[in-house]
Amino acid sequence: MRYIGNKTKLLDFIGEVLGRRGIRGGSAVDPFCGTASVARSLKRRGFRVLAADVLELGHVFAHAYVQASQLPDVAALAGMLGSRVDSATAVVARLNRLRPRPGFIHAHFSPAGADGRMYFTPENAARIDAIRSLLGEWHADGLLEEDGFYLLVTALVEAADRVANTTGVYASYVKSWQPNALKPLHLRLPRVVPGVGSLAVRADARALVPGLEPFDLLYIDPPYNNRQYPAYYHIPEIIAMGFAPPPVLRGKVGLMLHDTDKRSPFTSRRKGPAVLEELVAGARCRHIALSYNAEGVIGEETIERILKAYGRQGTYYCYKRRYRRYRSDADSAARRYRADVVEERLYCVDR
Ligand SMILES: C[S@@+](CC[C@H](N)C(=O)[O-])C[C@H]1O[C@@H](n2cnc3c(N)ncnc32)[C@H](O)[C@@H]1O
Repeated sequence: MRYIGNKTKLLDFIGEVLGRRGIRGGSAVDPFCGTASVARSLKRRGFRVLAADVLELGHVFAHAYVQASQLPDVAALAGMLGSRVDSATAVVARLNRLRPRPGFIHAHFSPAGADGRMYFTPENAARIDAIRSLLGEWHADGLLEEDGFYLLVTALVEAADRVANTTGVYASYVKSWQPNALKPLHLRLPRVVPGVGSLAVRADARALVPGLEPFDLLYIDPPYNNRQYPAYYHIPEIIAMGFAPPPVLRGKVGLMLHDTDKRSPFTSRRKGPAVLEELVAGARCRHIALSYNAEGVIGEETIERILKAYGRQGTYYCYKRRYRRYRSDADSAARRYRADVVEERLYCVDR
């Protein structure tokens, strides 16, 4: 999914650095997992991973791509839907044929609603409603176990993102339909990564990390600028959470009224250094790797000071890689960046 800070393009770089430092396998914690791109790559590399995020969106991705280790058993559903629906792929095909059922997304995020928000066509919005409501019902009725539920919710969030009438983030919608938004919603089953022993939770990193048993690798990828994720991804977050109870919305683009517990102090120039230091100080791990953008609110010297204060002498190093930044069209209209090519850094220390 299009996501600010998504590390998909940097997975080789991260893997290469870990390899160079002899960090291979063991237990890893990714408490800012987002799309779970790094967490799933660590799982592929043989780590047992704990992936977490303060957003339900991150938790849903983490469950599908990190905790789940095989395609779900859909026998209970087959009992109800008929014997031809005998695999997760067949369930996805059935969901893709489901009739639209106008609900929350249709009422609030399509032009059919009173606020006329053009995030989805009315047809796609009502199909998102139908699928998300049915998944919630199947889960509540015990017809779909956890892995299956999160895999299918992930498939829906990703499918909705492909037809969202945005320029990449949900902070605003485009005032005319873009070609992608006019395509029909189409779910694809996420690819499960085999390997048992990995877990997903929704948690605030600051509460989660200090309570963990000693582990090998802490991979830290916090927000690096003042953009708050719950305001940029409120609609995928609502789809991830479901509509019961229906979230209370506010403002022109329908942000969630109650999202303060999901807002992050890591986005603040004033609070960022202290919360990073608190996180590093409280982690009982052997290695720390911190992804951070060169333009982030916490400066290189501050990060170096913090990592050296809690790490072993001589093991600190900052690896650098230039790459093409993920940027939304909205960014280019509203913001001025000096270049498209940015430098991503991986700060490492052993403890
Ligand atoms: C830079 S993104 C991570 C991107 C991720 N590595 C990927 O490849 O998709 C930062 C993530 O941190 C999450 N976050 C922010 N503050 C948090 C906190 N205090 N605890 C846990 N997650 C937090 C955000 O919701 C967001 O998903």
